Amino acid sequence: MIFESHAHYDDEVFDDDREALLMSLRERGIGTVINIGASLSGSEATVKLAEQYPFIYGAVGVHPSEIEELNEENFAHLRDLCAHEKVVAVGETGLDYHYPEPGAVLQKEWFERQLLLARETGLPVIIHSREAAKDTLDIMRALRAGEIGGVVHCFSYGKEMAREYLNMDFYFGIGGVITFPNAKKLKEAVEYIPMEKILLETDSPYLAPQPHRGERNTSLNLPYVVEAIAQLKGISCEEVERVTEENARKLFQL
Ligand code: NI
Repeated sequence: MIFESHAHYDDEVFDDDREALLMSLRERGIGTVINIGASLSGSEATVKLAEQYPFIYGAVGVHPSEIEELNEENFAHLRDLCAHEKVVAVGETGLDYHYPEPGAVLQKEWFERQLLLARETGLPVIIHSREAAKDTLDIMRALRAGEIGGVVHCFSYGKEMAREYLNMDFYFGIGGVITFPNAKKLKEAVEYIPMEKILLETDSPYLAPQPHRGERNTSLNLPYVVEAIAQLKGISCEEVERVTEENARKLFQL
């Protein structure tokens, strides 16, 4: 079955139909979901969802756009959440320079702290990196992220950057963007990345694939991503589902 490695079902856009949607996933081929915390409250909500649904696991962390809410006290709480039996990763964390705020200095500081938290707790890390390729890589190298392990979620850089992450033995989260006609660079990168390093993800409710681009995204759209990868790799959709599930189970130790 399809392993969804990155969704935000705690998001308020799912408030009206969350229960029905989540209950429908398994019968429509989505076997396992990692719900990703992007803020402190999102991380709390992630743990609650993981407690409620057997097929949902959680990652706890604070997205670079939200790090201004962090302080020593609530960071200690985040550390406590890592000990929960259904928490399988730290994240999402990383760097996002798309908007000027929060500033790079603060973003880097909390990215480093969350990488160290992953190391300390023995969990893999889920990295968000947007328009910040060099700084992300510098920090990952400095903190020897290769020893921590993890996934670069919604990978959006090209082949050269893919090589750098591969050298650290990282996985690549591939989602709806791969179906966009203008995603030439990403398609080249996916052709280059070995199948054994690819995870399926949606980033729901964001980044819906063609032909649903712009709509609310859910894991039910993952077959479009599977098909795009199968075409690029010249293998069957079943093979893409099987290998990516194996990869995710290995990374998250499930
Ligand atoms: Ni995300």
